[in-house]
Amino acid sequence: MTAPQLLDLVGGTPVVLVDAPLPHPHPGFLAKVECLSPGGMKARAAVSMLAGARSRGELVPGAPVVESTSGTMGVGLAFAGQALGHPVVLVVDRELEPSMRALLRAHGARLEVVDAPHPAGGWQQARLDRLLRVRAALPGAYWPDQYRNPDNAAGYAGLADEIVAQVDAVDTLVCSVGTGGHSAGLARALRRHWPRLRLIGVDTVGSTIFGQPARARLMRGLGSSIHPRNVDYAAFDEVHWVGPAEAVQTCRRLARHAFVTGGWSTGATARVAAWAARTRPGDRVLAVFPDGPHRYLDSIFDDDYCALRGLLGPTRGHPVEIPHPRAVEVTRWSRCRTVVDPRRRPAEPARGQRVPA
Ligand SMILES: Cc1ncc(COP(=O)(O)O)c(C=O)c1O
Repeated sequence: MTAPQLLDLVGGTPVVLVDAPLPHPHPGFLAKVECLSPGGMKARAAVSMLAGARSRGELVPGAPVVESTSGTMGVGLAFAGQALGHPVVLVVDRELEPSMRALLRAHGARLEVVDAPHPAGGWQQARLDRLLRVRAALPGAYWPDQYRNPDNAAGYAGLADEIVAQVDAVDTLVCSVGTGGHSAGLARALRRHWPRLRLIGVDTVGSTIFGQPARARLMRGLGSSIHPRNVDYAAFDEVHWVGPAEAVQTCRRLARHAFVTGGWSTGATARVAAWAARTRPGDRVLAVFPDGPHRYLDSIFDDDYCALRGLLGPTRGHPVEIPHPRAVEVTRWSRCRTVVDPRRRPAEPARGQRVPA
C-alpha cells in the first residue's frame, strides 16, 4: 500500500450551486469551495512556490521560508512548509485576528508582528519592510514573494483542471484579486478549454490594484496598497470594487441560506457572481470562494462588530458604473468595463477597450 502524503490532500474541492438570494433573486451560480482543502486555496500557490524554488536550487532542503501575509497565505505556507520540511517565519500585523495567530503558531510558524502601518504604504508596506530585515538575519532563508512570483499563478493549474472535470462549461469566471495569483492562473488555464471565458475581477474599495487611490481598507485578503506584479490586467474583462457592508451582508446571507460561506473575498465575489448571473441570463457563472467563515467569527459574523462599523444598513443590489478606474473614487460597489494597468502610462487600455477622453 502506498501511504498518502500530506501533499496529496491539496485540492479536490467541490463545486456547489449557490441559488440563495444575495440579496436579490438570481438564477444561481457555481462556487468552487476552496476552504474544504487543507490550508485553503492558498496552499496550492504555497506548494507551487516552494516546490519551484526547490527545483531551481533557490530553497535548499530544511532552509527557512519567510513571507509577509495578511493570513491566508500564511496558512498555505505553514502547510507547504510542513509537507516539504521547511520552518516558516511569517511577518503579520496587529490587525491579524487572534484566532489566526493562534492557528499559525499551532502549525509551527514563527510570527513577526508589525505594530504600526507605513505612513503611505499601509500595513502591507510595513510588513514588507520588516520582512527584509528578518530575511537579512536568516541566512539561506527563501522569500517566495507571492506578489511577484510566477509560481503563485502557476499553482492554480490543478484548480483549473478540477473545474474542467467538474463542470460542462464556464462562461463567466468571478475571482477576487489580492496578489493576482488565482485569477491569472485560472484564466490562463481555463481559456485553453473555453476561449471565450469572461473574467470579472473583484477588488475592495480603497485598493490600488486597478488604479483607484489607496485608502484604509477594512476588508482583507482581496485588495492591496501596492501594484502586485502577478495581476494579469490584460486577462480581465471588467473589475468590480465592493464595499465592506456589501461583502458582510452577502457572507451572512450565504451562511444563513446556502450554508457555504467565507470571508471578505467570498462575500464580495458571491455578490458580484449573483449579479452576473442575474444580468446575463443563460451565462454559466463560476465564482471561487477562497476560504471559509471560521476566521471571521469575531468580525463579519459578529453583530456588535458590524453594527459599530455601520455594516448592517441597507445596500444596493447593483453596482454603480464608472467609465474609467481613474474617473472617480469609488466608495461603494462599483463596476468598470475598462481595465487598465496602473503601472503603465495613464489611459492605456489593457484589453482593447476605448478609454473615454
Ligand atoms: C482570503 C483571500 N481571498 C482572496 C485572496 C486573493 O487571491 P490572490 O492572491 O490569488 O489574488 C487572498 C489573497 O491573499 C486571500 O487571502
